[in-house]
Amino acid sequence: MAARIPIIAGNWKMNLSPDQARELSAGLAREHTRPGTVEVFIFPPAPYLSIVAESTRASAIRFGAQNIYPEPKGAFTGETSLSMVSGLGGQLALVGHSERRHQFGETDSQAARKVAATVQAELTAVLCVGETLEQREAGQTESIVTDQIESGLREIGAHHLDQVVLAYEPVWAIGTGKTATPDQAQAVHHLSRALLRKQYGEAAASSMRILYGGSVTPDTISGLLARPDIDGALVGGASLTLDSFASIIQNSGFHS
Ligand code: PGA
Repeated sequence: MAARIPIIAGNWKMNLSPDQARELSAGLAREHTRPGTVEVFIFPPAPYLSIVAESTRASAIRFGAQNIYPEPKGAFTGETSLSMVSGLGGQLALVGHSERRHQFGETDSQAARKVAATVQAELTAVLCVGETLEQREAGQTESIVTDQIESGLREIGAHHLDQVVLAYEPVWAIGTGKTATPDQAQAVHHLSRALLRKQYGEAAASSMRILYGGSVTPDTISGLLARPDIDGALVGGASLTLDSFASIIQNSGFHS
C-alpha cells in the first residue's frame, strides 16, 4: 500500500477577528516551519486569505478557501474565484461542506463543478461527504456517501485524482461533540476506498487521502488515525485555538 502522509486541516468557518486570524496562523506557522510527518491545511474565511498568506509564507502550511465559485470571473456578487485564491498563494478549496449543502442548498452537481474547476485551476479540492443522523438511522449511510463521492468526482478524469482529498464528515458529528467512533469512521472510510478501487483501480484508491471530520479533538485524533483508512482530520471548533489545533497536529505524529 502506498504511504499516505496524514493531513490535519483546520476549517475556521465564520469565526475569529482579523487579529485572531493573524495570531493563530502566525503561531501555527512558527510550529510548522517545514514539511514533517503531517501536512497542515487551513481554511480561513475568504476576507482573511491574505492575512493567512502573509503569516504562513515561510512555513509548510497550505491554505485555501472554504468555498469557491467555479467561474473564472464576472458578475457573481459575493463569490470568490479560484484565481483569487491562487493569486494569494492558496492551493486548496474546500468543496461541498455539509454546511454549504444543508444551509445554502448546494447540490451534488454544484459540488462536482467546483471540484472540476478546482483541479483545472491546478489547486487541490477537499471534497466533503457525509450522511445526516436521519439517513444513518434509516441505514442509508453507504448509499449516501457512495452517491456523494461518485457525483462529486463525476466531472474529473482519473488523472486528476491526485488533486483531490476526500473528507468524510457525518453531519450528526459536526459541531455536536459527538465524534464518530474510530470503528464507525473506519467502516465508511473503508467502503469509500473500496468504491475508489472499483472505479479507478488500486493505485488511485490507495494513494487517496480520506480525512475524518466531526468534533475531532486532541483526545480523539490518535484513535482515529490508528485505523488503516483514516488519513487525517478536518477540524472545526478545535482548530480555532493554537493550543488545541497544535495538540491535534502533535498527536498525529508531527515532530519538527
Ligand atoms: P467540528 O467541525 O470539528 O467543529 O465538528 C468539523 C467541520 O465541519 O469541518
